[in-house]
Amino acid sequence: MVGKKIILAVTGSIAAYKAAHLVRLLVKNGAAVQVLMTPAATEFITPLTLSTLSKRPVFTQVIAEHEWNSHVELGLWADALVIAPATANSLAKLANGLCDSIVSAVYLSARCPVFFAPAMDLDMWKHPATQANVQRLKGYGNHFLPVGYGELASGLVGEGRMAEPEEIVAFLADFFQEKQDFQGKNVLVTAGPTYEAIDPVRFIGNRSSGKMGVAIAEQFAERGANVMLLLGPSKLSAKHPNIQTVRVESAQQLYEAAMQHFEKADISVLSAAVADYRPAVVAEQKIKKKGDNMTIELEKTPDIAASLGKMKRPGQFIVGFALETNDELQNASEKLAKKNFDFIVLNSLQDAGAGFNFDTNKITILHRDNKRKDFELKTKAEVARDIVDEVAGTVSSSEFRVSS
Ligand code: C5P
Repeated sequence: MVGKKIILAVTGSIAAYKAAHLVRLLVKNGAAVQVLMTPAATEFITPLTLSTLSKRPVFTQVIAEHEWNSHVELGLWADALVIAPATANSLAKLANGLCDSIVSAVYLSARCPVFFAPAMDLDMWKHPATQANVQRLKGYGNHFLPVGYGELASGLVGEGRMAEPEEIVAFLADFFQEKQDFQGKNVLVTAGPTYEAIDPVRFIGNRSSGKMGVAIAEQFAERGANVMLLLGPSKLSAKHPNIQTVRVESAQQLYEAAMQHFEKADISVLSAAVADYRPAVVAEQKIKKKGDNMTIELEKTPDIAASLGKMKRPGQFIVGFALETNDELQNASEKLAKKNFDFIVLNSLQDAGAGFNFDTNKITILHRDNKRKDFELKTKAEVARDIVDEVAGTVSSSEFRVSS
């Protein structure tokens, strides 16, 4: 659960008192927890309790004190939405797409998996209307934690108890456990921009944040690979223990690191935005201001991707990237062939929210046989999963060179 972003939506049932324990357990397991409550839930447990435990403000309304809590942003932020306890009323509303609270608005906006932990009295649970709502919600791809059997708040005994917080956390942890389809594979990822020194204080750089490459490294690592991340000057860092990071600054340093680590790599993903040119001479002292114009002579940097493409042996796999502003497909397809990639990921600069420094991206994957896949605008974590899935789908494990 480490680093997972969970929205916990609490609705109005007496089981809401268990939400405090659930928040505590999720936080203890390393998750970031954002709590939402319906007004009815606040009658059972205070927002103050849950905000103190989650260390974040709790949202109870879409519009609160002239502030708008963006349900769309919340829906995009989350890795999972957990509705616990989910009352009969909430199930009925969500099954029918009603949107009259922060919980229902976020539910409709969420792209992440949604988990329901229903809680109600036994007859309410058994009622065909409730059961029909559950079936409908399941039909939309939502996940349900089984209700427990036992004593209910009414004093009746039967089915309808909310799953225990420990069970909910175990269910989520199980769900997040990635398939280990890259177990034992060595993966090399280049990421981030490069800085090409002009003098001791100035450089030529670009706006790459490194987000896409770091997300790809994390995705491979979660799926069992040993990842060597060659990261340019980026504010980000990778967290997963399967990732070893080597920090570089210039194209030359990235080239040297890539040359050193390529031999061992079963898969290389070259997502770094490498400078194509660098100052031919780096001034030893800070360059003084003189005259109205100045010229810096630039020379070509080594093309890392093309060099690795030439060195590629059977069984090694290379994914390249392209960011084009014109004749996108034509240029990307030429690069794919010229640099000997196995497939190329074309980043769109045409779509709002895609490209450098955004949290979202929109890609097209082009294969050597001209097969082309267009993807929707997604978060970079989702795009990373699509790219890694595409690697897994393109290379069956048997074709991999056995790692030494
Ligand atoms: O030629 P262009 O820079 O558009 O190619 C992009 C691809 O080549 C990316 O995968 C990028 O990481 C890689 N590249 C590289 N070394 C360079 C330039 C680009 O590895 N000097």
